[in-house]
Amino acid sequence: MTHPATPNPPALHSLPLLTRGKVRDLYAVGEDRLLMVTSDRLSAFDVVMKAPVPGKGALLTQMALFWFDKLSHVVPNHLTGEAPASVVAANEMALVDGRAMLVKRLTPLPCEAVVRGYVAGSGWKEYSRSGTVCGQVLPPGLSMTTPLSEPIFTPATKAAVGDHDQNISFAQLCELIGTARAEELRAVAIQLYLAAQVHANTRGIVIADTKFEFGLDQAGKLTLMDEVLTPDSSRFWLADELAQGRIVALDKQPLRDWLASTGVTGGLEQAALDLPQHVIDGVYLRYAQACHRLCGGDE
Ligand SMILES: Nc1ncnc2c1ncn2[C@@H]1O[C@H](COP(=O)(O)OP(=O)(O)OP(=O)(O)O)[C@@H](O)[C@H]1O
Ligand SMILES: [Mg+2]
Repeated sequence: MTHPATPNPPALHSLPLLTRGKVRDLYAVGEDRLLMVTSDRLSAFDVVMKAPVPGKGALLTQMALFWFDKLSHVVPNHLTGEAPASVVAANEMALVDGRAMLVKRLTPLPCEAVVRGYVAGSGWKEYSRSGTVCGQVLPPGLSMTTPLSEPIFTPATKAAVGDHDQNISFAQLCELIGTARAEELRAVAIQLYLAAQVHANTRGIVIADTKFEFGLDQAGKLTLMDEVLTPDSSRFWLADELAQGRIVALDKQPLRDWLASTGVTGGLEQAALDLPQHVIDGVYLRYAQACHRLCGGDE
């Protein structure tokens, strides 16, 4: 995977760096905790762009913290409740301020728990081809703006670094993690999605789909981890536009549109592109709107 020459944020020296994902840097804190620092890096089609979106990491962190709290009645999550600043050197506190989480180190399940209330993205591609999503047969004649009668669980494998996630059937998921765990995952993921949708609807937003990640704690308990219900992991659509049959998404669509206009989508060529300021601003604005609308105080 390609990362910008200057990492954003700069690496911490007080903790051992375990991995650098597309968006997050993971540091070990002893044996059983991690410091997860969310950068301002922006990726599309699994490629990290050269230029960051300043402030994005803080927005993602604020949103994830909001949802972890709001959904804590559904399933336990990885937060320890301890302050990130408590485990870094004094001169590094500013680097983690507002953009890090101190979490339990879990054993990640090798899958992504995707829930869809609408058929979009990779689901739309499969549906257009075969009338199915992850092998599930859906009613014919759906449009992207038609809500499904109930949300569907459409798992994907967690791809190795640099690879794309692959949609899989529920039967394949059962082979991967066992039937009982797969059924638990499906039930919990759908419950999380429904609870989040209720809240989002009160803020004029429809969650078209979202991806959850889970891990197991030392006792084998299913635990929600990573990020949750951010514009990186979800499609947030404006409800009033959707009612008019239009999709206006609070996500990285300005980047995808601009990439499509350059004709470069993917690979090293994409990573090397200089982003115009209007794309950086457009992405930031949409993320900030999503954060404000979904996670701001009652209006
Ligand atoms: N509590 C946790 N314990 C162990 N691993 C975790 C925990 N929370 C998140 N992770 C892992 O940390 C990484 C976060 O990095 P990032 O989100 O940047 O990855 P990524 O490149 O987007 O890849 P992915 O598509 O797997 O999320 C992910 O691999 C995620 O599975
Ligand atoms: Mg991720």
